[in-house]
Amino acid sequence: MAEERTFSIIKPDATRRNLTGQINAMLEDAGLRIVAQKRIRMTTGQAEEFYGVHRERPFFNDLVAFMTSGPVVVQVLEGEDAVAANRKVMGATNPAEADEGTIRKRFAESIEANSVHGSDSRENAAIEIAYFFSGTEIVG
Ligand code: CMP
Repeated sequence: MAEERTFSIIKPDATRRNLTGQINAMLEDAGLRIVAQKRIRMTTGQAEEFYGVHRERPFFNDLVAFMTSGPVVVQVLEGEDAVAANRKVMGATNPAEADEGTIRKRFAESIEANSVHGSDSRENAAIEIAYFFSGTEIVG
């Protein structure tokens, strides 16, 4: 087990329903510490670049439109095996497949409006964190 950091987004469907605090409580209960956090409105360019790996997928344009449809909360989470710990508490991408007790099972509205994003690897976590935060904004 290693202390590491991961990147998280609380998505527009969740900020619209005022769920930031409840989601943060679930992250903290899972052993993750929120070491950086800010509420932003993503631009279309930011969303397109952030989700660039999905550019050829049929849902790409809808995903970009959704992620820019309202405020998001971008976060850096720190803890033991933070990438895996966050993915576990988030639950499956499709809320219909998410386990009981996960954020997406509890709050997600659909596979698109699925309340949270979390990095899928340590390597991508470092890239995604650097995309939204400078080093001095992260206070461990
Ligand atoms: P996220 O973890 O943010 O990464 C890409 C996002 O695309 C994913 O969560 C979903 O919200 C969204 N998405 C929309 N449709 C699909 C789909 N059919 N398969 C996978 N992801 C999808």
